[in-house]
Amino acid sequence: MAHDMPGQSHWHEPSGNKRAGLGKFGRPMTPYDKFMESEGIPVFRDLGVKNVRNLPMTDWKRRGGKGSYIQLFGTEGKWGCYVVEVPGSGALNPEKHLYEEIYLVVEGRGSTEVWLEGDAKRHVFEWQPGSLFSIPVNAMHRIVNATSSPAILIGGTTAPNLMNLIDNVDAIFNCPYEFRDRFSGADDFYKPNDNIEPDPVRGLAMRRSNFMPDIVDCELPLDNRRSPGYRRIEPFMTGNTFYLWVGQHENGRYSKAHAHTSAAVLICVKGGGYTYTWPEKLGPTPWKDGHADQVRRLDYEPGGMVSAAPGGARWNHQHFSVTKEPFRLSAWFGPHSPGREPGPPGEQHTDYTAMEIPEGGSAIPYWMEDPHIRTEYEQTLKNNGVENRMHPDWYIPGAKVTNVAE
Ligand SMILES: [Fe+2]
Repeated sequence: MAHDMPGQSHWHEPSGNKRAGLGKFGRPMTPYDKFMESEGIPVFRDLGVKNVRNLPMTDWKRRGGKGSYIQLFGTEGKWGCYVVEVPGSGALNPEKHLYEEIYLVVEGRGSTEVWLEGDAKRHVFEWQPGSLFSIPVNAMHRIVNATSSPAILIGGTTAPNLMNLIDNVDAIFNCPYEFRDRFSGADDFYKPNDNIEPDPVRGLAMRRSNFMPDIVDCELPLDNRRSPGYRRIEPFMTGNTFYLWVGQHENGRYSKAHAHTSAAVLICVKGGGYTYTWPEKLGPTPWKDGHADQVRRLDYEPGGMVSAAPGGARWNHQHFSVTKEPFRLSAWFGPHSPGREPGPPGEQHTDYTAMEIPEGGSAIPYWMEDPHIRTEYEQTLKNNGVENRMHPDWYIPGAKVTNVAE
């Protein structure tokens, strides 16, 4: 990419003790950045958005609907995202591609057809708001709107990962290889599976299901790692490396802050609230320490999303449920799962985002957090007429949080 630099046709050896190079540079466009621009739809870049329905969408010729790319801060190169509107009584163009793709239905009802080009059989399943499904790598698929009003879906992909390596759009959309390992063609391939098993890395609740009809109201098993009463499931879909989970904070409660590097985007599917995020290097009490200006906040509702670590490095982030309903989020990571932590295979890792700072983790216990957080939260719930279900004991120094108020 250095050969794209304007006005840099001759290289000069540095004189004296000067260092070679420009010293500073603008991040060049990646192949995926160029691909997004070539698609002729907006590319939304920010910390997050209150509701993707608010994003300007324009005609998306390749897909056959309207859309906007979404590349939240910190996720660049890590995974791809977009919102697409399927026209009323219409359908998106059939396509296949080497990257993984999952869809969350924000609005509308319809169906998806999935097939391999050589196969006569088309798999068809019907979706509604809150449905989550995955397209196997390189399988043909077509999204059909069953109603006369537009349908809105959020897509998550590993397109940047593939494009930035291969740098050839045609190879990604026109590869003949059939990934039978990702798409068995079994009759029940898109039959929802409610069985829960431990995920093979951290032993958290996992559901192998290529289609989840309703992640808004489905049962979620107890997890307790982020907040008392926190519930969570990890869908494992179509053999994907794309990592995601669905989690829920109780109404009247908020999560402990915890820190990690970028990739995660939280999409609200139920209730509403806000997220604070700030660089971990500012410490656990940024308001008290005069760094309030560096704390980022996003308020969002079902259909909204926020980047957990918008600065790339480790950022703390904390989620606040402010409605009478629980605050349900789906977090999408691209292929950045905890099983891909650096270090040789077999090296022991701790579930550090679930452990509190005094235990060697990155989670800030309620009693260590900035007092501003509690004060503001209590006031917000009061204004919203929502019962506060944070227990005062949780703020006593050294307190172990248990689900006492359940
Ligand atoms: Fe996180």
